[in-house]
Amino acid sequence: MKMLICYYSNSGNTKLACQYIARNIDTAEVSLFDIKKDEIPNLGDYGIVGFATFTDFLGPSLLVQTFLEKLPEQKNKPAFVFNTYGFVSGKTMKILDAWVTAKGFSVIAGHSLHTPESYPPMVAKGRGHETSPNRREMNGLNSFITGLNGLIGSRLDEGREIDREKIKFGFLGSVLPAYSRTKARDDMGEKSVDEALCDECGICEKGCPYKAIKLYPKPVFDMDRCYGCWFCFNHCPNKAIYTKKFRGVGHYPRPNDHIKAVFSA
Ligand SMILES: Cc1cc2nc3c(=O)[nH]c(=O)nc-3n(C[C@H](O)[C@H](O)[C@H](O)COP(=O)(O)O)c2cc1C
Ligand code: SF4
Ligand code: SF4
Repeated sequence: MKMLICYYSNSGNTKLACQYIARNIDTAEVSLFDIKKDEIPNLGDYGIVGFATFTDFLGPSLLVQTFLEKLPEQKNKPAFVFNTYGFVSGKTMKILDAWVTAKGFSVIAGHSLHTPESYPPMVAKGRGHETSPNRREMNGLNSFITGLNGLIGSRLDEGREIDREKIKFGFLGSVLPAYSRTKARDDMGEKSVDEALCDECGICEKGCPYKAIKLYPKPVFDMDRCYGCWFCFNHCPNKAIYTKKFRGVGHYPRPNDHIKAVFSA
């Protein structure tokens, strides 16, 4: 049995968690696929597919939706859903489950994991949740992986249908609204570049998931394409990108030492 985990990760927390899941799945041979690559994987090669994302304004990112739209319709191929979040997951799991199910996958399990915060306005306010996941949260992740191993081992290889595990959406997942993508962009507001700091390295242009940046030779932002994901702000090595409210503070470009240590254990 082969498993593919398709993930979207801007600062590396979700990628790290997916690598951990992959290492601990022993009932399938696992590969990872980065959906930012703008390619479509051949799902025919895999018996089960995982979809993983970070929480982006209380829901899954537009990029994940666009990726799913490009996949061929499925006939009950088993799938699982997974997301990381820094503060509150909101509707991420519920919406991701609905999108994946609408594509014809049979979602058998899902899990949300608390991780350090990558949303600069929260980090700047000192709400970075730097010590997540804690032991209890890691126990939850490990139980999820054990359950997944059990489902795959006992049922899939025998070609039997798998009953869906009860997925916990949480109270807030039911009551909180899903925000529109334009709200995320509006909240971020206009972006500017400190031309003295920018060395025209191109990291922001290359990494923008929505192709909203062009270098001329300093970055110019296309606000119609921008979805307020903060990748450019977080990843500029010189902290040259800033907004009206946030300048030089709140960056989370890569997994912190705590989460790296937790996942290397
Ligand atoms: C634009 C943006 C929006 C976010 N929105 C939320 C949110 O609504 N709730 C939350 O708990 N975390 C939110 N986060 C935090 C991330 O979901 C969390 O830190 C995640 O682990 C980052 O994953 P990554 O490192 O794989 O990109 C947001 C982060 C960004 C950059
Ligand atoms: S990442 Fe920063 S330094 Fe590099 S081109 Fe963009 S703004 Fe300039
Ligand atoms: S311009 Fe920056 S904030 Fe907007 S989509 Fe691109 S990387 Fe994200």
